[in-house]
Amino acid sequence: MASFLIYIIDDEDITVQRLVRALSSSEEDSRVQGFILASEAIEAMRENPPDIVISDIRLKDADGIDLMNRIKSMAPNAAIILITGYPSIDQAVKATKKGAFYYLAKPFSLAELRKTVSDAKRFLTSQKHKDQLLEKIRKDGRLGEIIGTTPEMLKIFKTIKQVAPLDCNVLIKGETGTGKELAARALHMHSKRSSGPFMSFSCGAFTEELIANELFGHEKGAFTGATTTKLGLLEAASRGTVLLDEIGEMPLSMQVKLLRVLQENEIFRVGGTTPLKIDCRFIAATNRDLDKMVKEGEFRQDLYYRLKVVTLELPPLRDRRDDIPPLANHFARKAAKKFRKAAPAVGSDFVEALMTYPFPGNCRELEHIVERAVALSHKKKLTAHDLPPDLWLIQEPESNNRAAAPLKNMELDYIYDVYKKTGFNQSETARILGISRTTLWRKLRKMNINSGKLRQGDKKQR
Ligand SMILES: Nc1ncnc2c1ncn2[C@@H]1O[C@H](COP(=O)(O)OP(=O)(O)OP(=O)(O)O)[C@@H](O)[C@H]1O
Ligand SMILES: [Mg+2]
Repeated sequence: MASFLIYIIDDEDITVQRLVRALSSSEEDSRVQGFILASEAIEAMRENPPDIVISDIRLKDADGIDLMNRIKSMAPNAAIILITGYPSIDQAVKATKKGAFYYLAKPFSLAELRKTVSDAKRFLTSQKHKDQLLEKIRKDGRLGEIIGTTPEMLKIFKTIKQVAPLDCNVLIKGETGTGKELAARALHMHSKRSSGPFMSFSCGAFTEELIANELFGHEKGAFTGATTTKLGLLEAASRGTVLLDEIGEMPLSMQVKLLRVLQENEIFRVGGTTPLKIDCRFIAATNRDLDKMVKEGEFRQDLYYRLKVVTLELPPLRDRRDDIPPLANHFARKAAKKFRKAAPAVGSDFVEALMTYPFPGNCRELEHIVERAVALSHKKKLTAHDLPPDLWLIQEPESNNRAAAPLKNMELDYIYDVYKKTGFNQSETARILGISRTTLWRKLRKMNINSGKLRQGDKKQR
């Protein structure tokens, strides 16, 4: 069966016939149909959408570029090859911008046309392959080690798959424990560098001298104690990926040096005078607000722009609560393996209690909670009682003291007001109220409130 359907549209009958004949004989995996009028082609598309359309730009009843819009609406995945007798750069640019696959100038040889068609086929096949992969990710609810079933995470998966092969710098933002390192590893695994090393460097853990020494290495005799030449991490990561973790903690003086490295792709070892070429891809991660840091002069803008060619923003777990059940299951299995136990089932009351918790530590915190439960439980199923008491003692028994009740309500109402005024920002609310974030979470939980939304039975329960 033919796997590609090719349409040829040209106002000259002879040309159409010649091209249909030529391609029918060479493209064994394709069925080729010719049209003289755009309207006929459009009509046929309703029944059988083509994979490839080869169309002249000037047609009797349409302009090829306008026709492209029609084709795109009826056969959105079709690769369109435009032919023109009057090539102009403007037109070529316009056509490509509108999504033409190729722009072929007359006169062209049949060999040229065949090559273009075979390129288009290869493109379509890889596109289909990509779509199938994404479909598989959606069904499995995971990309490698990263679990996610919510639209927010599926979008992240898609971006990872798209930018991984591009070798560009990527900046990963997200609160602590949202999976930034996991995402960086996934980018590496899906890139052309996957057989090379993946090295993570924590920018916050060192002084400037130590950072330079770690990243760039040093020459023998660079300083007392430098008895041998030491290879830096950027050289060791050759043909691989480097994760600059906690990039927001990088001292300003070091940021200048890093910027140079990113611009020139070369380094100097400490004490060295010869520049050395490096070959690694940079991914940076941070849980800090770099935009704000740039405004306040704490982070170099030029470095920021270099790093964030593509930005990946991992949403907090409380904003994608539907990921909690699959994550809890995943972590239960992971922990069981670690402790060499049979994986317990995850009870519905266990998950329900987790669903209302705000998870300031995001997935890492969930992982710890589940791991603790698996470690301590001897049963086949995890229940709410396997959770830490402050998690399942959500509903404190109402006090018998009637007079105390309205006061308590007033407190909660006030907290809620501040919470709302800060745009549901927990750190800000805690700061204004002068209470710790932990206390705030406990109080918010009492009201059954998650970020920005009142959960069911809000007023009633207060
Ligand atoms: N979507 C996820 N699916 C499965 N495991 C996850 C997911 N997100 C995070 N984890 C797990 O949570 C833990 C923390 O993830 P990770 O180290 O990638 O977070 P991070 O964003 O780098 O945190 P930090 O800012 O504190 O460094 C890891 O054990 C990781 O495997
Ligand atoms: Mg991390």
